[in-house]
This record gives sequence, structure tokens and C-alpha cells, in this order.
Amino acid sequence: MRILSDGRLSHIAIIMDGNGRWANKRGLPREVGHKYGAGAFRKIVEYCGDIGLRALTVYAFSTENWKRPEKEVNSILALLRQYVDECEKNLNKYPAYFHFIGDLSVFDETLRARIERIEEKTKDRPLTLNIAFNYGGRSEIARAFSRLAERGVREITQEDISAELYTAPCGDPDLIIRTGGDMRISNFLLWQAAYAELYFTDVLWPDFDEKELDKAIEDFYSRKRRFGGV
Ligand code: IPE
Ligand code: IPE
Ligand code: MG
Repeated sequence: MRILSDGRLSHIAIIMDGNGRWANKRGLPREVGHKYGAGAFRKIVEYCGDIGLRALTVYAFSTENWKRPEKEVNSILALLRQYVDECEKNLNKYPAYFHFIGDLSVFDETLRARIERIEEKTKDRPLTLNIAFNYGGRSEIARAFSRLAERGVREITQEDISAELYTAPCGDPDLIIRTGGDMRISNFLLWQAAYAELYFTDVLWPDFDEKELDKAIEDFYSRKRRFGGV
């Protein structure tokens, strides 16, 4: 399904949830769920490029996900490294502007430098892919305030705050999708979600595919956004 050129939908954000349950249902370790989840993610990025979306923001790892067992956290970090390797090797084929959002200070310097290089080399791609890793909406807002305070801004406007968020270049999401059946935001894009359309599906993330995304997009186009008006 092509994104309509009327500008109503340019930015989709996804809470990719349900990997662990997908694995449990099959009697497999949670790590296997993350591996299949990473596969679903690759397909969706490619598809978003094909249909002409401008920005896709995905929630890959939250500031709260460090609470999980070390083995699981390490498996997610390994998948991330694998993805970075893959992007580096296929830079010319890579379908999006690779942009990390979140606190990357937890990564070693080599990995950070590699990420920066990929960001720099892909920045002219038409689809922006924000990967939220070690991301939390509250910490993002606190960071925005700290940055304004550092610059001595005292009369803080909404625009000042938006401009200091990681997502400033591509603006707020029009549509936020959460897979896995839970109906909550889990600290994702708190400020930016103010007027986003929310779409929840029971489909577990590793099973989410192009058809499921089409359903969400169709649902979005059937809605009437009022932004507080009539
Ligand atoms: C989402 O799937 C991936 C991350 C949070 C990293 P989960 O791992 O949360 O899967 P469930 O919700 O336990 O099924
Ligand atoms: C949200 O899922 C975070 C990601 C998808 C990366 P969680 O599984 O961590 O959220 P809760 O714990 O169900 O709220
Ligand atoms: Mg979960």
C-alpha cells in the first residue's frame, strides 16, 4: 500500500513488542524471539522505504529493559552489533537514513564511531529510520531541559522543547503502532505522542509483516484527526 501524497501520514513509530511471548509459545528461549523479531524489523524497514514513508521510529530497547536477565540483554546487544555490521557492509543497498536515538554512552567508542559513520553516509536517504535504543521518553525530556538550561534559556516554550528532542528533524509521529496486545506506551515518545493516532494489535512482533502494516495504515486513513478542533 502506497503512502498517500496528501501529507497526512509521514511518520510511523512502532513499539515492537511480543518477542518473548512468541518464543515461549514455541517452547523456545526468549533470545530466539528477539532473533526473529530482528528479521521482522528488517522486512518492515525495507517495506517502509518501498511505500514512500518519510520517517519510521522503532523502539528496540528501553532504558528500563536493563532490568532483564543479563543473558537476554546480551543477546539483544549482539543483534544490534550484527545489524550495524550488516548496514556497514551493504551501505549502498541500505534503504534508509540510519539514525540512533537514545543514550549511546553505554556503547564502546568503536561501536559509537561506526554508528556515526553510517549515520553520516546514509543521511540523504528519503526514509529516516530512528532506532530507539537505550531510549526512554522521560529521560529524553529531562535531557531537553538540561540542554536548554545549559544554554541559559529561561522562558521555555513548547517549540524549544521539541527542538531539543532526538526526533526534532522529523517531527512527531502521526501513527504509533504497538504489537503484542498490551495497551500502553511504556515510556516511548511521551512528548511527541500528544496527538498521534494509536493502533494496537495482538499480533506478536516476529509475526508482524507488510500485510499487518497495511492494515494499520488503512486504519489510520479511516480516522478523522481533530487536534482539539471540531
Ligand atoms: C520486545 O519484546 C523487545 C524488547 C522489549 C527488547 P519483549 O521481549 O518485550 O517480548 P514480550 O513482551 O516479553 O513477549
Ligand atoms: C517496550 O516493551 C519496549 C520495547 C518494545 C523496546 P516492554 O516489553 O519493555 O514494555 P512493558 O514492560 O510491557 O511495559
Ligand atoms: Mg514486552
